Amino acid sequence: MKITQRNPLVTTHFYLFLIIHLTISTTADLLYIPSENILINCGFPSNTTASSNDRNWITDIGSNFMFSAQPNTSTTSEASKQSISIPQIPYKTARLFYSQLNYSFSVSPGPKFVRLYFYPDSYSGLNQSDAFFTVSSGQFTLLSNFSPSLTTDYLNQDYLIKEFCINIEGHTLDITFTPSHGYGFVNGIEIVSMPPNLYIRDELLPFVGQLNWFEFDNYTALETVYRLNVGGNEIPPENDTGIFRTWFQDSHYIFGGSYGETSKKTEVGIHYPSTVPPYTAPEDLYRTARVMSLDSEINIHKQLTWSFSLDTGFFYLFRFHLCETRDQITKPNQIVFYISIGNETSGDRMDVIKRSGGNGVPVYVDYVGMVVAEGNYRGKQDLWISLYPCIEANPMYYDAILNGLEIFKLNHTDGNLAGSNPPPTNPDRVHSGTPSRRLILVVGSVVAGGAIAICLVCFLIYRYGRSLKDKSWVSLANNNRRYLSLVEITNSRQYEQVG
Ligand SMILES: *[C@@H]1O[C@H](CO)[C@@H](O)[C@H](O)[C@H]1NC(C)=O
Ligand SMILES: *[C@@H]1O[C@H](CO)[C@@H](O)[C@H](O)[C@H]1NC(C)=O
Ligand SMILES: *[C@@H]1O[C@H](CO)[C@@H](O)[C@H](O)[C@H]1NC(C)=O
Ligand SMILES: *[C@@H]1O[C@H](CO)[C@@H](O)[C@H](O)[C@H]1NC(C)=O
Ligand SMILES: *[C@@H]1O[C@H](CO)[C@@H](O)[C@H](O)[C@H]1NC(C)=O
Ligand SMILES: *[C@@H]1O[C@H](CO)[C@@H](O)[C@H](O)[C@H]1NC(C)=O
Repeated sequence: MKITQRNPLVTTHFYLFLIIHLTISTTADLLYIPSENILINCGFPSNTTASSNDRNWITDIGSNFMFSAQPNTSTTSEASKQSISIPQIPYKTARLFYSQLNYSFSVSPGPKFVRLYFYPDSYSGLNQSDAFFTVSSGQFTLLSNFSPSLTTDYLNQDYLIKEFCINIEGHTLDITFTPSHGYGFVNGIEIVSMPPNLYIRDELLPFVGQLNWFEFDNYTALETVYRLNVGGNEIPPENDTGIFRTWFQDSHYIFGGSYGETSKKTEVGIHYPSTVPPYTAPEDLYRTARVMSLDSEINIHKQLTWSFSLDTGFFYLFRFHLCETRDQITKPNQIVFYISIGNETSGDRMDVIKRSGGNGVPVYVDYVGMVVAEGNYRGKQDLWISLYPCIEANPMYYDAILNGLEIFKLNHTDGNLAGSNPPPTNPDRVHSGTPSRRLILVVGSVVAGGAIAICLVCFLIYRYGRSLKDKSWVSLANNNRRYLSLVEITNSRQYEQVG
């Protein structure tokens, strides 16, 4: 990544760039077949098959893909607490390590999903609160001084999966685990090949401030921070497009009472255009949506708002999946809305039918933005994402729609992707008792721990049209120059760094 800048942008809180994909044609509905589909059930005595989805998990005991410099670097252990609500695979057992441990896999070159599974528990009588470790892969630091138990407490869940997208240039994918103090552990490791150009692309994004530009290159790694089936149910890995992603419900992230309505068209056909290959997201994602309503006047001053907790100091990729499936909506200018990120809008009018070309045709819109850290402060801030009607367009209905949302963190120029550990949570906080695979942010607890951060806004000039490879989004610009306002992050919460 490069950001070249001439004007000092010290006050900038957020940069936004827009990429639009909008050409239409139909493609065969094919699942993506990943060339690598590796699942490691760490510390489990044998190879096993998960009953929920028939996937094969192999053991790392006696394997030829695990390396350490010294003998007795690692041991295996069963979780002390086991409950039917916690999947046995891969959480029943863990590999514990006391010094550096490497896993090394032979893979084909190209982008890979790397998923790490953690179930914080007392293993071999060790105290879970002593587990702090770093995970890296090649030049990327994926997790640093990471405490699984602080993270699951913060998320109010029993276990967690960390997903990364890494482009492999050679033929090996190495994952290095190093205790930062105490010890470390891991329950499962998954490696799945990704379709090229799904998220990581060799692409130059538009100029900001005339001399500022952003290069999203093949060498950038991503961490998935949120992946939501907006207005629908959770989509489990086996119902994804062959790359085993999980799409969580969005209802936990809705801010205030802005639930709107959900739209569900279980029977409607989804016609993927060539710019949105069928592996982009499953059909079920596009069949459900959160909308306001077609009862126009009452929506005029309303918005749909979600709130997300993000690590400061990183760039993020925001992908909005849009598809209109309601029978009444077939023509341009029936529904036009704005998307705002962090209370600022890019000014881009979202008319789903106009952008996609028709009812039942998906489209997605990407933005890249940065949540800037205040001084040396590293921590989390809440970021709002809102949709609200574009009244100036004089649409037939004041409404807005969202089918899916993905938020990824991009590595720093030095390859770091790791944020700081979340703050310890109040031990009195009520645990729901129903463990979940959702990456829940419990808004109540965040608000309770909140403090006010300072806000600053900056306006940058956003210019299209230089060395742009993807013509489809250049064509959207009516002229060569657009103005993009930057995101204001106010009223956000900040935390002390932990650990
Ligand atoms: C991510 O890290 C790699 C390797 O250090 C670097 O080449 C790339 O530009 C970084 N990406 C961003 C967005 O900074
Ligand atoms: C588990 O499966 C892997 C890959 O198929 C194989 O190499 C390994 O020998 C198997 N291990 C055991 C213990 O059966
Ligand atoms: C583990 O991998 C790292 C990074 O590739 C390397 O520096 C280290 O020597 C490896 N350690 C072992 C024990 O193989
Ligand atoms: C490794 O552990 C085994 C079994 O606990 C023990 O017999 C052996 O001496 C240890 N080796 C070293 C080098 O500590
Ligand atoms: C980036 O990756 C794509 C797909 O794997 C490949 O076609 C392209 O040549 C790569 N670009 C560079 C600069 O390595
Ligand atoms: C967004 O704007 C609303 C009022 O319009 C304000 O109350 C809220 O604090 C802002 N939130 C953020 C995260 O900027």
